[in-house]
Amino acid sequence: KAKIAILISGRGSNMAALIYAAKAESCPYEVVLVASNAASARGLELAEAEDIATFSHPHKGLSREDHDEIMHQAVINSGAEYIVLAGYMRILSDAFVSKWQDRMLNIHPSLLPKYKGLDTYARAIEAGDKVAGCSVHLVTPELDDGPVLAQTEVAILPGDNADRLASRVLIAEHQLYPNTLAKYVTREADPDWILEQVRRRALALTETH
Ligand code: GAR
Repeated sequence: KAKIAILISGRGSNMAALIYAAKAESCPYEVVLVASNAASARGLELAEAEDIATFSHPHKGLSREDHDEIMHQAVINSGAEYIVLAGYMRILSDAFVSKWQDRMLNIHPSLLPKYKGLDTYARAIEAGDKVAGCSVHLVTPELDDGPVLAQTEVAILPGDNADRLASRVLIAEHQLYPNTLAKYVTREADPDWILEQVRRRALALTETH
């Protein structure tokens, strides 16, 4: 099974969904570490109760690069091959991102490229959108900007407010993330996926030259 480390900053409900999905025999990944920038992150307690190794180190007083390096070492020591960001509310240094290129996923509560950053639900409602949703994407140095691997649309209901919409988007997140991660870690076996990557890289090269 592919070894994954999950990085969290708070509640950790996506982390829980990833951990529970990994209990299925057929799941192609296992969670070897949950790491946080906050010792108080509620998700750490749940991970410990599920017998998963945990690590935390505060970012206060450290440069972004130094804190990222501490997290990187913890992930390396765990033997993880992939990093899965699940409500990790830190912007990552370019050095860290490039070390995990194509091996780090994030979930974001909007239909990217719409509504990068914060307050995605209120912004979707204010814009009069009919659908909101969530996206799983690869992490690149630009915030919430990497290639989208999968999305789920969630209808916006009349009278929705940000909280109501957020709680429905979260249900979609809990299904989308484990599913997409499972597909992603088994991609080596998928010739279509490999072709797609080759195309994507060729396109990126022509765009920058
Ligand atoms: C989730 O809704 C996730 O999409 C969002 O934070 C929440 C974390 O909840 N992430 C971002 O906004 C990243 N830009 P959780 O800790 O319960 O998984």
